[in-house]
Amino acid sequence: MAFNGSPRKQWNTATLLGKALEGAASKGAETEIIHLYDLDYKGCISCFACKTIGGKSYGRCAVQDDLAPVFNRIEQAGAIVLGSPIYWGTVTGEMKSFMERLLFQYTTYTDPPGSLFPNKIGTGFIYTMNVTEEIMKEWGYAVNFNRNEATLRRILGGSEYMCSFDTYQFDDYSKVLATRFDPVKKKQRHEEVFPLDCQKAFDMGVRLAGK
Ligand SMILES: Cc1cc2nc3c(=O)[nH]c(=O)nc-3n(C[C@H](O)[C@H](O)[C@H](O)COP(=O)(O)O)c2cc1C
Repeated sequence: MAFNGSPRKQWNTATLLGKALEGAASKGAETEIIHLYDLDYKGCISCFACKTIGGKSYGRCAVQDDLAPVFNRIEQAGAIVLGSPIYWGTVTGEMKSFMERLLFQYTTYTDPPGSLFPNKIGTGFIYTMNVTEEIMKEWGYAVNFNRNEATLRRILGGSEYMCSFDTYQFDDYSKVLATRFDPVKKKQRHEEVFPLDCQKAFDMGVRLAGK
């Protein structure tokens, strides 16, 4: 199962998620993509029903909105891939709210923290962003990515991530005020490097389907 945290259904993030699913399908997996922006939900409301010992929602998110059936399906899934553009240095608000809800229900406030997720599954994360790899490092984005990787591994099973840098953001750079970017270089990168990112995403899907 892939989760698109971009509002755009056919752009960088969605394309790479599609490639990851193609990779998984090449190993015989049944695949589906869920566009988070199509769903009606909010982040964790801190009700602690999932932490209430003996309660009917112990280890399960009690909020009944569009994420409830999605969580049931994740418990049956063999692997999940999350994808998000970087907005202001981190994942989009929709992806953040999704992660709060997905992960909090299963984490235990024990020392060390444990997981109530009923399976062990592989997870992947695909981040897409405008910045180059050098700037990503300089601006410290990797701190978030590494933390997400560790959290997903601890709670759901396995985890890996990949980044697509310096993405093509607009279909016509001449129509927007974006003088920071060289449209020729952006196009060239889209034609030369993005296909390599697509291959990395495909390979991620192959690995996740094999676990
Ligand atoms: C609201 C907003 C905030 C953004 N903030 C960042 C940012 O902090 N760093 C960055 O590298 N790119 C930023 N971007 C660019 C997107 O991350 C980038 O274009 C991404 O590949 C878009 O994904 P999509 O094509 O799947 O929608 C931002 C874009 C938007 C719309």
